[in-house]
Amino acid sequence: ESQQQIIQTIVDGKKHLPGGLLPMLHDIQDALGHIPAPALGLIAQELNLSRAEVHGVVTFYHFFRHEPAGKQVVQICRAEACQSMGADKLWEHACSRLNTQGGTTADGAVTLEPVYCLGLCSSSPAMVVDEQLHARVDTVKFDRLVAATGS
Ligand code: FES
Repeated sequence: ESQQQIIQTIVDGKKHLPGGLLPMLHDIQDALGHIPAPALGLIAQELNLSRAEVHGVVTFYHFFRHEPAGKQVVQICRAEACQSMGADKLWEHACSRLNTQGGTTADGAVTLEPVYCLGLCSSSPAMVVDEQLHARVDTVKFDRLVAATGS
């Protein structure tokens, strides 16, 4: 099945539901790992929206990706409780170590993303590596986790 067909099937299945846009986007990301650019036009057409409106929704929710993720996905909490415990320093460390300002590294090895509260505020700073939660992350722990699962 081509990417185009996968998207079409998902859109067809959800386009008659009220509020079908978000479930549709979730299904596309589940199936393909991101929301490819051609999906925006197709969804816009089928739902009678402008492409800009669909793009706005995809961009509003940090959860949706515009590009395929790297082999390892690292999400650092940048919300308040974590910030007060050094999450900014951790984010800067991650950026310099991975040589990105967020997003996927040039070699496709790691995707670094901000998230806003992981429910671990009392053990902040918190981060997720490949869907596993980690609490009280410092730069040493970051290097261990990202190196360990990244290679
Ligand atoms: Fe980071 Fe809640 S603010 S886990």
